[in-house]
Parts: sequence; structure tokens; C-alpha cells
Amino acid sequence: MKTLVYSTRPDTRSTFDAMNSRFNHQLDYTEAKLASETAALARGYEAVCIFVNDNANADSLNGLADAGVRLVALRAAGYNNVDLEVAARRGLTVCRVPAYSPHAVAEHAVALILTLNRKTHRAHDRVREGNFSLDGLMGFDMYGKTAGIIGTGKIGAIAAEILHGFGCRILASDPYVNQSIVTYATYMPVPDLLAQSDIVSLHCPLTPESHHMINFDALMKMKKGAMLVNTSRGGLVDAKGCIAALKIGQLGYLGLDVYEEEGDLFFEDLSNQVIQDDLFARLLTFPNVLITAHQAFFTRTAMDNIAETTLGNLTAFADGKPANLVTATGVSGRNKPA
Ligand code: NAI
Repeated sequence: MKTLVYSTRPDTRSTFDAMNSRFNHQLDYTEAKLASETAALARGYEAVCIFVNDNANADSLNGLADAGVRLVALRAAGYNNVDLEVAARRGLTVCRVPAYSPHAVAEHAVALILTLNRKTHRAHDRVREGNFSLDGLMGFDMYGKTAGIIGTGKIGAIAAEILHGFGCRILASDPYVNQSIVTYATYMPVPDLLAQSDIVSLHCPLTPESHHMINFDALMKMKKGAMLVNTSRGGLVDAKGCIAALKIGQLGYLGLDVYEEEGDLFFEDLSNQVIQDDLFARLLTFPNVLITAHQAFFTRTAMDNIAETTLGNLTAFADGKPANLVTATGVSGRNKPA
């Protein structure tokens, strides 16, 4: 299929080109993000391929449909950036990559947890400068701590399994029980989980209901000095509330791989520019905040799987058997209700 791939970086292009030798689609790449202003670039293409910070809102989708596009292929699992009702109205099929390496994301969440705890990033900087002092580097044993997992789908269940391996007590919150972790995880409502956990890791999708589920009030329900890690979607967490809770020591550690306004920042080299987002700039000043730029998915395994499933989705659509669809009523494949 003739496909325009938005938001392309060199690694996207090389991975997709290598995998495409098996699929033979006509792929053209643009560094531009999908937005209402860039939708017209897709004129003459049957499909577009988009990523997490492309904005497939009503204007963009109308632009794509007017340009003759019929398929929007997400090279991601989350689809909160797509207006699915407008897509359906305009006859645009939307597909995604439901799972490419849940291990990659779960392992990154644990990397953030361990780094925040043992401060290896700060220790590395110190040692390079010949400073071998341990002041301020004291951590805690993971063994025996309580870890709360919000969202126990594919990624959350793996995070639970890894943390259980450390000897953590596992609490879970999800409208659906994941049978793979029930032998050791205790399910409970989010407020109870927040009140009991030393570490809270978010693995649920961003929806209108989950938007800002962790705000100042929720943070005040957590144990004083507890850790929050978000590798899911930025909109789950209210950054302003986090800053307020960090300033009073209520929130002890914050690890973010995603940020609500990341679309203006992440995936770009802005090291010669002044950051205009004052909330983000404030977050960077805390010694107990660790931010990565939406890289939890970024492993060789995951990238190959993303390319393979996305190109397979293009083939399936071209063959009249669309796969991995996302519709306004959701996606198929669920665990049992809690
Ligand atoms: P999944 O669909 O397998 O699991 C999500 C789980 O969250 C489901 O069990 C669902 O029932 C649960 N859930 C939904 N609303 C909830 C709520 N309000 N409270 C508690 N649980 C709720 O999805 P998967 O593959 O585990 O991915 C989770 C999220 O991780 C995605 O939505 C995506 O936003 C994010 N993600 C982040 C990446 C990164 O690079 N940082 C890469 C891939 C995914």
C-alpha cells in the first residue's frame, strides 16, 4: 500500500525499510507530525502511519479523509490521540499494534523505580567528577515493600511479576482481573491501593475517565514519601499536583516516561533552546524526579515487532481482511471483570 509515515526519525525509517523487504509496501517518510496543517501531505496516499504524538483529532482526520486516505495505522498500542468517532464517520479504518513488547515497557518502569530508589544516575555523575561521597544517596530495600499496579493488562502484569520477583507485596487495581497474577496480587479500588503502596506504577490507558486520575488529592491519599512512576500516558497525571506534592515532601519520588504536554518536547533535540513549558522546567529541578522522553518502548525487539505488525496491518487491510482494529466501542480481547 502507498503509505505516508508521519513523525519519522532515522531509527523508524531503517527499521521499517529493513522489515518492508518482506511486505513490499510503498513507504514514504516525513518528519512532520500529523496535525490539521500537515494532513494534506497525505494526498495521493491510501494509508498513513502515525505515532504517539501525532494528533489525529477531528480536523486532522477530516483532512486525511479529504486527501483520500482510507487507513490510519498506529505504530503504537495506545490510541488516545485518535478521534475514533470522527474516523468512523469519515470512513477511516484505524488499526494499531496491540502488543509489541510489553516487557520493554514494564522493564523501563522498573528501571525508573530502581534508579529513583538507588540514585544511580546521581552516583554516576558524582563518580565521574571524582566525588565519592554517599551523602544523599541512601535508598531502600525493594524486598518487603508494597508495589501498587494500576492497570494490570499486558504491561502491568509483567511489571507486577518483576516486582513480585524482588519480594514486593503486589496490590492491583483494574476493572478486569488478570488471571496470570491473581495468585500473588491483591485487587482493590485505586484509593485503597494508593493508601497502602510504597511504589505506585501506572499501566492503564488514558481515557476521559482516567484523565488526571493522579491529581493533588490522589497524591495526598498516598503514603508520605511514596514513589509514583508513569510509563503509560502523560494525561493520567496532573503535573501541577505533582509539583505541589513534591514541594511538601508528600510525594517522595516521581518517575515519568510520559508527560501530558510532551508533544512539544519529546523526540526532538532542544538542547540549544529555552524550554517554554514552566511546569516541565520546574519538574526538572527536583533531585527526586527522573524523566525519560517516552523511551519505554524503545528496544530492538519492540521496534522490530512494531514494524512487522504495522506492515502486516497494511497488508491485511489491502487484502480486505483488516486486523488489529480500533473502533469507538473499543478493542477486542479482555480479561474477566473484577
Ligand atoms: P492493556 O490494554 O493490555 O492493559 C490496560 C489495562 O488497564 C486493562 O487491563 C484495562 O482494564 C485497565 N484499565 C483501564 N482503565 C483503567 C482504570 N481507570 N483503572 C485501572 N485500570 C484500568 O494495555 P497495555 O499494553 O498493558 O498498555 C498499557 C498502557 O501503556 C497503554 O495504554 C499505553 O498508553 C502505555 N504504553 C506506553 C508505552 C511507552 O513507551 N511509554 C509503550 C506502550 C504502551
